[in-house]
Amino acid sequence: SDMLILWAIIGYGLGSIPFGMIFARLMGLGNLREIGSGNIGATNVLRTGSKLAAALTVLFDGAKGAVALLLARHFAGEQAAQITALAAFMGHCFPIWLGFRGGKGVATFLGIWLALAWPVGIACCLTWLAGTAVSRMSSVGALAAAAASTLWIIFLGYGGALVLGIILTLLIYLRHSENIGRIKSGTEPRIGSKS
Ligand code: G3P
Repeated sequence: SDMLILWAIIGYGLGSIPFGMIFARLMGLGNLREIGSGNIGATNVLRTGSKLAAALTVLFDGAKGAVALLLARHFAGEQAAQITALAAFMGHCFPIWLGFRGGKGVATFLGIWLALAWPVGIACCLTWLAGTAVSRMSSVGALAAAAASTLWIIFLGYGGALVLGIILTLLIYLRHSENIGRIKSGTEPRIGSKS
């Protein structure tokens, strides 16, 4: 309906706010495009050396997905919430303001699941933390959390969100194609290492 299109636009608009770039600029940390992977996400913000900026980025990139979804759920119900969540995710990955060169969606994905189905969100956050801690690669944690999310959705009883879960998982893998190449060739940087 017309309303769903409106929610999709609101979701995309919120999702497309590049908080990593905004915090990096406000805090004088340099141009993220010229640092590390060149990505706009919290992992790359951490490579500037500012843990505070990285924490703010993961928090705000997560919150924008959650806020968009909760607004849509409150005013228009569950179907609108899922469409708005997907739109926010797309906004983060393909923001019009950055020539559609956006982020990889991990923080927004976690925020979406925390708001849509909090047990799935907690399970995904724990999978992400565990995968990152074990490998010391944020991308490995993200890929583990994305893959596991579909299992968490099923086992924790949120089958109504499975299609959304599969779409988000596929998009996260698509957005990590360069990371996957580096993981395979053993050149993906570890957290805390220089390069
Ligand atoms: O959150 C994105 C992360 O999984 C990878 O980021 O900068 O290492 O490509 P980056």
